Amino acid sequence: MQWRDCAAAAAALLIAGAGVAGAIETITYPNRIGQVNFPHKLHQEALGQCRGCHEKGPGKIDGFDKVLAHGKGCKGCHETMKRGPTLCKGCHKGG
Ligand code: HEC
Ligand code: HEC
Ligand code: HEC
Repeated sequence: MQWRDCAAAAAALLIAGAGVAGAIETITYPNRIGQVNFPHKLHQEALGQCRGCHEKGPGKIDGFDKVLAHGKGCKGCHETMKRGPTLCKGCHKGG
């Protein structure tokens, strides 16, 4: 195989990989007061867009932490939209 074919194959793999990651089902945040299971795919479908949550494009979100999660990153949006859990136990399961 020519190097060019190799590069094309690698690019195709990257695109396929991005597709799979874009459809990511659930993201879990294990933590000491009870794991948070974030239904990512449900949010993609309910909100119909990636922007708003991913300002710089899909992928890890810089500085995503407790403060952001309890603010506009999770809870703040639930409060604004009056949809989704806003009580501790609505997000933190088990313990
Ligand atoms: C309701 C908010 C929200 C929406 C809408 C959303 N995402 Fe996400 N997404 C997140 C959060 C939060 C994370 C985890 C970020 C972190 O922990 O750094 C994430 C992570 C990701 C990741 C990285 C997963 C990993 O583990 O590496 C990808 C890829 C991704 N999202 C793609 C998308 C795409 C594509 C869309 C639109 C079709 C989308 N997201 C819509 C909130 C959202
Ligand atoms: C809308 C969902 C949501 C609600 C409601 C919520 N949290 Fe969280 N919380 C999270 C997420 C997501 C994280 C993880 C952030 C990270 O790890 O980046 C988190 C992290 C935490 C942490 C940090 C844990 C550690 O191991 O460092 C504590 C403590 C916490 N939450 C307490 C609370 C309390 C108390 C309440 C109720 C007053 C609450 N949370 C309500 C989503 C939520
Ligand atoms: C931009 C707005 C927005 C953000 C940001 C957001 N949510 Fe939501 N969330 C929603 C909406 C809208 C629903 C209701 C979806 C539905 O019922 O179809 C929802 C529902 C949920 C539910 C209930 C799912 C169910 O099965 O009924 C959980 C749990 C949840 N969100 C957790 C989170 C966590 C954790 C984060 C942050 C990592 C987050 N959400 C960020 C808008 C948001």
